[in-house]
Amino acid sequence: MPTVLVTGASRGLGLEFTRQYAAEGWQVIACARDPARAAALQDAAAAAPGRVAVHPLDVADHASVDRLAAQLAKAAIDVLLNCAGTMGDGNFAAQGLAFGRFGSTDYADWERVLRINVLGPMKMAEAFVGQVARSEQRKIVTLTSILGSIARNTRGSLYGYRSSKAAVNAVMKSMAIDLAASHGIAATVIHPGWVRTDMGGPRADIDAPTSVAGMRRVIDALTVESAGRYWMYDGSTLPW
Ligand SMILES: NC(=O)c1ccc[n+]([C@@H]2O[C@H](COP(=O)([O-])OP(=O)(O)OC[C@H]3O[C@@H](n4cnc5c(N)ncnc54)[C@H](OP(=O)(O)O)[C@@H]3O)[C@@H](O)[C@H]2O)c1
Repeated sequence: MPTVLVTGASRGLGLEFTRQYAAEGWQVIACARDPARAAALQDAAAAAPGRVAVHPLDVADHASVDRLAAQLAKAAIDVLLNCAGTMGDGNFAAQGLAFGRFGSTDYADWERVLRINVLGPMKMAEAFVGQVARSEQRKIVTLTSILGSIARNTRGSLYGYRSSKAAVNAVMKSMAIDLAASHGIAATVIHPGWVRTDMGGPRADIDAPTSVAGMRRVIDALTVESAGRYWMYDGSTLPW
């Protein structure tokens, strides 16, 4: 069976990807900043004996990424899935667009958001490109957001998060072009929809199982020809 590496597997969409891929018989390399505190992930691993290997990984800490890549040097990873992400300090689920207004910028927090949401997926790809290249499926996927669409930004605000997702869109577009040519790897972004997780909050449109089932269909169908697009979880695409 294929292998998927999931970042941010402690909760939310990363945890749901772990559950669904493991239930389908995939080998899951489930990465969390602090596995000892990720009880739901430990339960998911126990529910799928032998299929979920839990590893500590902080995507903002490049030494941590390099350590895991060295530990898994001989692995073949069919899908490298960058789920780890943050909106920064504050609570979008509760505050909505009031969080991240012009005039209230916390620059240190913005830098942390960029380090996790933009540099994180890039560092993961550079560290694991060899493991992906030797797999059968050869895919690198990063969860973006519709809030990164410049064309769809009609309401302003959310400078840190919006800019991080617009930036990671640009990163993944370049990666799609470069890695298709050099390694036959399909790289892309997917917007999961507005999902009821800690980040999306209880008023969001869809639940995590629905979002992840849709994203898995998009990932299954992904080829180097259909890579480098702004996919939605439902198989449609967004304007950049
Ligand atoms: N939910 C939505 O409506 C929505 C919409 C659009 C896009 N997205 C994107 O989808 C992705 C997953 O979102 P979610 O809803 O699952 O969010 P979530 O419930 O807030 O979970 C975020 C995950 O990212 C992990 N994480 C944060 N910083 C990390 C770091 N430095 N290193 C490793 N892991 C880190 C968290 O780990 P800890 O448990 O250790 O904090 C957690 O597992 C994110 O990229 C998000 O931007 C979500």
